[in-house]
Amino acid sequence: MPIERTLVLLKPDAVRRGLIGELISRFERAGLKIVAMKMVWATPQQAERFYPSSEEWFKSAGSKLLRAYQELGVDPKSRLGTDDPVELGKYIKKKLIEYMTSGPIVAMVLEGNRAVEVVRKLVGPTAPHSAPPGTIRGDYSIDSPDLAAEEGRVVFNLVHASDSREEAAREISFWFKPEEIYSY
Ligand code: CMP
Repeated sequence: MPIERTLVLLKPDAVRRGLIGELISRFERAGLKIVAMKMVWATPQQAERFYPSSEEWFKSAGSKLLRAYQELGVDPKSRLGTDDPVELGKYIKKKLIEYMTSGPIVAMVLEGNRAVEVVRKLVGPTAPHSAPPGTIRGDYSIDSPDLAAEEGRVVFNLVHASDSREEAAREISFWFKPEEIYSY
């Protein structure tokens, strides 16, 4: 099994709150190796290209939002004007672009045994209010999808982590040239 690499982005809320050092420490402490890192203020075009625009992605993002609303007892139609998963997915993407370009982010490539899975475990589930203690999202945020919708934004959840080896390969090459990734 080759050693894996994964992409992590410390999102604008993490940077603004001065959590860069603490969050990096968590990955280092677990034994992951930082093999590339930079601070970037993404343009709307970059954010738009980074997140997929396929019907499948919209549907999946919208369906997740619907599930979260169901658990929280929120009516999507009265809150966002639609309960169509694809339309909701498009709404998420639009708001995600606003979020990801609202300030600088820190992009890094982490390397280690089963890095994709390990990083997702350390980061925790999407919605911070239900993320377990001990995870980054559970320990540093109490945000939730219903509050986010009320404030016309996506959930601020501090960190992006690739969700598969295939996505990691695409996402790493999106932010880093091969010569910016070091072997040491
Ligand atoms: P992430 O999983 O890194 O990438 C997709 C982002 O969309 C996610 O973080 C959140 O910021 C946002 N998002 C996903 N699902 C929801 C939701 N149910 N409500 C609000 N924002 C969401």
